[in-house]
Amino acid sequence: MCGIVGYIGQQDSKEILLKGLEKLEYRGYDSAGIAVMNNEGIHVFKEKGRIATLRDAVNQDVAANAGIGHTRWATHGVPSKVNAHPHQSNSSRFTLVHNGVIENYSILKNEFLQGVELKSDTDTEIIVQVIDKFVSEGLEVEEAFRKTLALLKGSYAIALLDELNKETIYVAKNKSPLLVGLGENFNVVASDAMAMLQVTDQYVELMDKEMVIVTEESVTIKTLDGNVVERAPYTAELDASDIEKGTYPHYMLKEIDEQPLVMRKIIQKYQDENGKLTIDQDILQSFDEADRVYIIAAGTSYHAGLVGKQFIEKMANIPVEVHVASEFSYNMPLLSAKPLFIFISQSGETADSRAVLVQVKELGYKALTITNVQGSTLSREADFTLLLHAGPEIAVASTKAYTAQLAVLAILAAVTAESRGIELDFDLVKELGIVANGMEVLCDAKEEMEEIAREYLSTTRNCFFIGRAVDFYVGLEGSLKLKEISYIQAEGFAGGELKHGTIALIENGTPVIALATQEHVNLGIRGNVKEVAARGANPCIISMKGLETEEDRYVLPLVHEALTPLVSVIPLQLISYYAALHRDCDVDKPRNLAKSVTVE
Ligand code: AGP
Repeated sequence: MCGIVGYIGQQDSKEILLKGLEKLEYRGYDSAGIAVMNNEGIHVFKEKGRIATLRDAVNQDVAANAGIGHTRWATHGVPSKVNAHPHQSNSSRFTLVHNGVIENYSILKNEFLQGVELKSDTDTEIIVQVIDKFVSEGLEVEEAFRKTLALLKGSYAIALLDELNKETIYVAKNKSPLLVGLGENFNVVASDAMAMLQVTDQYVELMDKEMVIVTEESVTIKTLDGNVVERAPYTAELDASDIEKGTYPHYMLKEIDEQPLVMRKIIQKYQDENGKLTIDQDILQSFDEADRVYIIAAGTSYHAGLVGKQFIEKMANIPVEVHVASEFSYNMPLLSAKPLFIFISQSGETADSRAVLVQVKELGYKALTITNVQGSTLSREADFTLLLHAGPEIAVASTKAYTAQLAVLAILAAVTAESRGIELDFDLVKELGIVANGMEVLCDAKEEMEEIAREYLSTTRNCFFIGRAVDFYVGLEGSLKLKEISYIQAEGFAGGELKHGTIALIENGTPVIALATQEHVNLGIRGNVKEVAARGANPCIISMKGLETEEDRYVLPLVHEALTPLVSVIPLQLISYYAALHRDCDVDKPRNLAKSVTVE
């Protein structure tokens, strides 16, 4: 996902912009740039590669108190200096950065830019050239900006500089995230509050198809038909320490370690003054009216949804379907008469998931978003939100957000069950507390986990994760963790499914990580382990206390059988981390990946 920053105020903007981009590095990018504006004009610095490379290219002699910056995750046009943002119009009057995808960029190019020489292969450059064209035909810059925005189809978060209006940054948003931050004698623009927390914690949400005129003294929000919109600022919940690594070598390891704390925070946040777990009544009402729940998500959040299905069906007795967002969007199944939709998204900005939310709302159905980001698109556009309270998750590989999603889903299922008169045979508050303690034990077993990674994953080119029932779902998550940060070809399988084809891939020494936490399928999965071992595999059994045998590689601390995924995933997170470390991979920023994928 691209990142955008902007600053206009009394201070020099260069360092503020560069620091802001550094805070957005976690989102994933392949090039970066800034443009700063002073009396001489607009100075653009942009480079392929890391922000450190950009920093070296910035001319520190240029003083400028207004500017914009961008980290690019290539969609149209390869990663290169010429395709990096900011992009300038041929007149050099306008300079622009953009996050999103303009679906009709080639139509606009043919209609408005015949004969105009384009410097890049990007959809973004079309925007700034069209603005320039409309101004050259006599429109004022604000009118030209508005007219161009009205023509764009697709997603955009835009910041624009006009060298003839040095006291202004022009901003616009549609589907891609963008905020305006408020300060004393300055204002800022950011893709998320994290980038500009260095200067302010006061932010104003922007809605789709809004444009903003930002000066150092004022922020004027307008709809595309020119009406001024008043909106109160909110205080970003983050604090600076949340977004620092501290003594950790990687954000991912810090975030794995934060899971026990997050568990305890969630228990506390979802308890009422009597210590009873509680959920917004409107959400319970919607569950009551529904005849089927549809969980929509991507990646790790999808894997959380698979476990969430178990929770809701087994505790609240409501049928649940779980769908990959990008599939559901274009291949919607036959829906039940009274569906309720749950969107799970750490970032709250995943375009695939958001596209389904738009469809669901158009069909008039209710939607609940479970997310880690207050004020995110998926949160704002749903009817209800349940927050993860996990604190910012910076590493691309999701860890604490996954277990937080599971905890919130368990609470949602338990409270819904109670509201439907279903008595659970366990106290979830107590059991989640035991889970938090079990997580602590696992986070303290790093040496053991590093040893397992070394033993099974040092040289292998592939790895299989097998499990039955909910262990299958956790195995899918384990395989995603391993492949996305170590680049080992990992796959998760239902244990009973291996013999229907995949077992052909088992060779001498192939690592097969097997989860055995569910008593009713324990013998089954151990039989699958024997099948692969008989064909040369190197099995690594991770079992739950009480089910262990002497052949198991690691025994998990005992937690309620319904909640085992909240602990069984932690060894998989840690061995993936160490496997990536041993291979000198970029653990926090794996190749080709972004923290939040805001393009479909
Ligand atoms: C998980 O480790 C990945 N970073 C990725 O699969 C992620 O879970 C997916 O892109 C969904 O993101 P979201 O939860 O922010 O919607």
